[in-house]
Amino acid sequence: MATFQRHRRLRRTAWLRDLVREHRVHADDLVYPMFVEEGLADRSPITSMPGIDRFGLDAFRREIVRLSELGLKSVILFGIPLAKDELSSSAYAERGVVQEAIRAAKAENPDLIVMTDVCLCEYNPLGHCGVVHDGKIVNDPSLDLIAKTALSHAAAGADVVAPSDMMDGRVARIRETLDDAGYEDVPILSYAVKYASAFYGPFREAADSAPAFGDRKTYQMDPANAREALREAQADIAEGADMLMVKPALSYLDVTARLRETFALPIATYNVSAEYSMVKAAAANGWIDERAIVLEMMTSFKRAGADIILTYHAPDVLQWLREERG
Ligand code: PBG
Repeated sequence: MATFQRHRRLRRTAWLRDLVREHRVHADDLVYPMFVEEGLADRSPITSMPGIDRFGLDAFRREIVRLSELGLKSVILFGIPLAKDELSSSAYAERGVVQEAIRAAKAENPDLIVMTDVCLCEYNPLGHCGVVHDGKIVNDPSLDLIAKTALSHAAAGADVVAPSDMMDGRVARIRETLDDAGYEDVPILSYAVKYASAFYGPFREAADSAPAFGDRKTYQMDPANAREALREAQADIAEGADMLMVKPALSYLDVTARLRETFALPIATYNVSAEYSMVKAAAANGWIDERAIVLEMMTSFKRAGADIILTYHAPDVLQWLREERG
């Protein structure tokens, strides 16, 4: 007689399912991306990302207090400066908008893990992540500015710097620059595996960072490549990265899983702007159960092997996890 296994035995009650659950989303895993705009009076909504705002400094302070009360432990900051120039000088200004936001966040909650996105695209008029010469994004001249930016964040009190520019050698240059200045304890979360993705669309409206010409395909990765992700990750580890990121999250779960199998470093994944906006648009139309969909997505990131999740859903997820605990 053919036998079969009774998989349903362990699914019979909620408590049994809880008992055998393999992966859990926890409040500690979440990093909330926030946009801080220089000179903004209060806060202003980002149309393509319902529920996400750009914050002026005072409003940002108030939001940090609210989020801290909700149990949020980490944020990653993006800046929108008043002025842009070819050298991206507001990216590394001592009184730049991100630098001021770091100080404000640490003043409100010294325990909060303040991460910063290290990039140039929001700070120069061409909107590219590196320096442009004759219509080309040049690698090596970009490294100085990127390292300077990371250093200015560390000097303002950032707990983690996260370079997202995708120039080669930036992790090594940042590490060296931080160490020389006495910031050897500031970790680098490298956007090691960042694809040239259409899923960044709403972010570019949010951060005012769309490229003025061309695209980012000469520095961000081809979405068709997975082996290349291992090479990028390997190189960043050799250069001194403390944590690796895969970005975007949903369409690249296989890449997260491969990195998890191959490397022992903590792995983050970035649930990016269009992934968020698609959920919000469908939910606004009543087509999906937002809470169930978002929690399922978060669980899938953990199952793929991510330790850390950067997500615009973080405040909602915190609230839902709290409700589930009762
Ligand atoms: C900056 C940067 C981008 C994102 C994070 N850092 C945009 C880009 O590379 O074009 C995207 C984040 C998101 O879509 O939520 N280089």
